[in-house]
Amino acid sequence: MKISSQFSKYASHYGSYNIIQESVVKKLLLDLKYKPKKILDLGCGSGSLCRAIDWEYESFTGVDFAHGMLELHPKAENIESVYGDFNDKRLFENLQTYQYDYIFSASALQWAENLEDIFKSIKLLNIPFSFAIFTSGTFETLNKTASLEPLLKSSQTIKNLVNQYFDAKFEVVKYSLEFESTREMFRYIKKSGVSGSRNLLSYKQTKKLMKEYPLNYLEFEVAFITSR
Ligand SMILES: C[S@@+](CC[C@H](N)C(=O)[O-])C[C@H]1O[C@@H](n2cnc3c(N)ncnc32)[C@H](O)[C@@H]1O
Repeated sequence: MKISSQFSKYASHYGSYNIIQESVVKKLLLDLKYKPKKILDLGCGSGSLCRAIDWEYESFTGVDFAHGMLELHPKAENIESVYGDFNDKRLFENLQTYQYDYIFSASALQWAENLEDIFKSIKLLNIPFSFAIFTSGTFETLNKTASLEPLLKSSQTIKNLVNQYFDAKFEVVKYSLEFESTREMFRYIKKSGVSGSRNLLSYKQTKKLMKEYPLNYLEFEVAFITSR
């Protein structure tokens, strides 16, 4: 398993809570071998991927189950952003009736209820893909310090699943995001939504964690999976 690392400094004056997701989108696009023309984006959010694409394409369809995100997604004659839940098999049955030539999913499939079922459905679509999935290495030290079980799947578990269904390239990238203060770091965790909607710690436990967390950066780990 190839593992690489990237380091960034968090700058609160940029007000950007999705700095890591933006880097993930950049890498997904950089690794492409060709420029697809009929694109599907699962868990498109407010459209980072759509905005980052710099070539001409026929159509872009972003799917997300958060209406608020879909509203912020770019819109154009060849761009649509539609409601869809990737945990619902009917979404993939529906997608079978369209013709896409590439599927992306950036920073979204870690929230899959059953990743294996989604891989099965994607295999049936028989379309090349690039996925970036956050793994259990995300917030590793933070989880250890607070004695919390990781919320996400390990890169090895995801790799095993990938190998079961696809012939794909698998790469793990570790990102570190440095903060000037612990307070800023915890504000980022709260606002960025990277912890899901998990709120397992009481106020007192959070205070203790802030005191005991030994690093001045947060760890993120992302599996990049690209069909061959
Ligand atoms: C961290 S954001 C990433 C958004 C975008 N892909 C990006 O790279 O900036 C994760 C997105 O996945 C969406 N999502 C999570 N679970 C989903 C599901 N079951 N079906 C569709 N979208 C989902 C969320 O609504 C959110 O917009």
